[in-house]
Amino acid sequence: MIIPGSTSQEVAAALASALDEPLAAVEYDRFADGETLVRIPETDGRAIVVASTVSDAAHIELLQLQDAAGELAEDVITVLPYMGYARQDKAFETGEPVSARAMAKAISTGTDRVLTVNPHEDVICDFFDVPCTPVDAAGCLAEPLSDLSDPLFLSPDSGAIELAETVRDAYGGGQTDYFEKVRHSDTEVAIQPSDADTSGRDVVLVDDIIATGSTMSTAIEQLQGPSSVFVTCVHPMLASNARSKLANAGVDAVYGTDTIERAVSAVSVAPAIVNEL
Ligand code: R5P
Repeated sequence: MIIPGSTSQEVAAALASALDEPLAAVEYDRFADGETLVRIPETDGRAIVVASTVSDAAHIELLQLQDAAGELAEDVITVLPYMGYARQDKAFETGEPVSARAMAKAISTGTDRVLTVNPHEDVICDFFDVPCTPVDAAGCLAEPLSDLSDPLFLSPDSGAIELAETVRDAYGGGQTDYFEKVRHSDTEVAIQPSDADTSGRDVVLVDDIIATGSTMSTAIEQLQGPSSVFVTCVHPMLASNARSKLANAGVDAVYGTDTIERAVSAVSVAPAIVNEL
């Protein structure tokens, strides 16, 4: 049975359909004091809990779903389409936690196995106390792209160049390159343009996540006379005014996946998850 978190209704439904397994109609409840409670239907065999931990509340809900599933099912598999806190994969200053590790350890207690889609770094899987498989779903970002003119697939930093290459390969051709990025704060980045000529070309920017939109909007501003600019990412967090920043920077279209359910979630990661289950 597929057991969805409240944040992952679309991808859970797509998974249930692809696997031909029942989709649980989970009840999400709340006590008068604000504490959450979930209720899952009777199940046996394997339970696949599918929940993007997009907020602190979603983390708690996931632990509750795993605990409920563990009472009824033989095996509990946890799918994290998006793993929150994954970008805190080191202590930036003495005295700070490795938050990704803390979350991974908590999630490990209620499951036999974890799959997570395009974690910030694959090394995050080592933080789990149970086997964890990273799922690369970047290829599906090529699906909404068609008839590109002399396409250039650009990542905003060297760390995301493999994602740009994956999207280029899935599209079927084009050049790849990357910018050099320096992050000054949570919301401020500086980006050095690449050597690639962008004039008159269709440019596809590729990253793992758009959070504040600072990275992508700054990257767009470096482009010289592109024909069109498409922004793609696996995890369209799009916090606060991120979508407006991209619009003001001149983006023609934004495409993300359903790891985080947003208006720009044009493609599903369900087929990539099925391949790794
Ligand atoms: C950083 O390493 C990530 O790959 C993203 O580039 C970054 O997290 C995006 O954040 P924002 O949208 O806030 O610039």
